[in-house]
Amino acid sequence: MEGAIDAITRDLLTMQEGLDWTVTEFVRVVDARLPPRVFYKHCPELRESAVATPSGIPVHLQLLGSDPQALAANAHQAIQLGATGLDLNFGCPAKTVNRHDGGASLLRDPERVFRVVAAVADAADGTVPVTAKVRLGFADRRLALACAQAAEAGGARHLVVHARTRNEGYRPPAHWEWIARIRHQLSIPVIANGDIWTLKDYWKARSLSGCEDVMLGRGMLADPDLAQRIRHWQRTGEQLPETAWIRRAAILEAYANRQQASLPDKVVVSLLKQWLNQMRARDAEAAARFAMLRRETRLAPFLAGLMSPIPCVPQHDDPAQALSCSEISI
Ligand SMILES: Cc1cc2nc3c(=O)[nH]c(=O)nc-3n(C[C@H](O)[C@H](O)[C@H](O)COP(=O)(O)O)c2cc1C
Repeated sequence: MEGAIDAITRDLLTMQEGLDWTVTEFVRVVDARLPPRVFYKHCPELRESAVATPSGIPVHLQLLGSDPQALAANAHQAIQLGATGLDLNFGCPAKTVNRHDGGASLLRDPERVFRVVAAVADAADGTVPVTAKVRLGFADRRLALACAQAAEAGGARHLVVHARTRNEGYRPPAHWEWIARIRHQLSIPVIANGDIWTLKDYWKARSLSGCEDVMLGRGMLADPDLAQRIRHWQRTGEQLPETAWIRRAAILEAYANRQQASLPDKVVVSLLKQWLNQMRARDAEAAARFAMLRRETRLAPFLAGLMSPIPCVPQHDDPAQALSCSEISI
């Protein structure tokens, strides 16, 4: 996820079981063949013999663009640098990206989706899998199926479907039932994505889409144990306990310690706030800590504030409406 999940985050989130593979932030391709440093920046794992996190979970490199030839040239470059999986982004809703004809803007024309996937699949020539990620459309869902079929016809090995249109942005709900419509018409694996924050969401997304496999985005930041929770349930039918605050705090602290090696403290604090912000919607203590630390810009007090006792923690679900407090001692 652009600006949110880098190699450090991938490493931290794959330390426990659950994830089968991960994807880099997108490498944006306009018309030129990009130099190796761009690929290494997005995917430092290319420097390792297996392009994987330290726990051995594969990392696929994501490309975003609209020019089939330029994408093919960059796919070739990525493969030469060692990429073992290439993913194509047809989902990005950002205005600047769409204005320059990238991401979800291609969903207005299935033929263009086909040309991009086919060009990259040709460049890969079977050496590495080429996959694609789409939304249900740009402004509406009329071309949802046609775009998915175009990606399959172009040679995508699997398709991730974020169950919203571009214009729906990240607003709930995700229309998981639309993924089922697509899945029924495709022979490649279809993976459901969008608004899977909890095990319950997984159950619901799975039953409405028919997809056993899902892609987790913000949900993994909100609950770093979500993939493990889902995997454990798949294996045993049992539910793991809620992720404790101390576990969330430990992952934030590890993240800060790693980022601090290359970034100024202020930037590390804003990255921590960004991650804590994802946690707070789903966790009362994260919400309380966020409220307490939102104006803090110094790293050491911020980290201390993640661990220090706080006087009052609202109970679950809707922190704003919490009625009771509990004593915390860490
Ligand atoms: C900050 C942010 C950055 C994202 N960057 C990417 C990206 O680089 N590539 C991509 O395929 N999707 C990207 N996405 C979309 C997510 O992968 C995912 O499709 C979307 O957030 C819906 O899933 P979720 O509800 O599980 O987060 C991004 C989303 C967010 C919020």
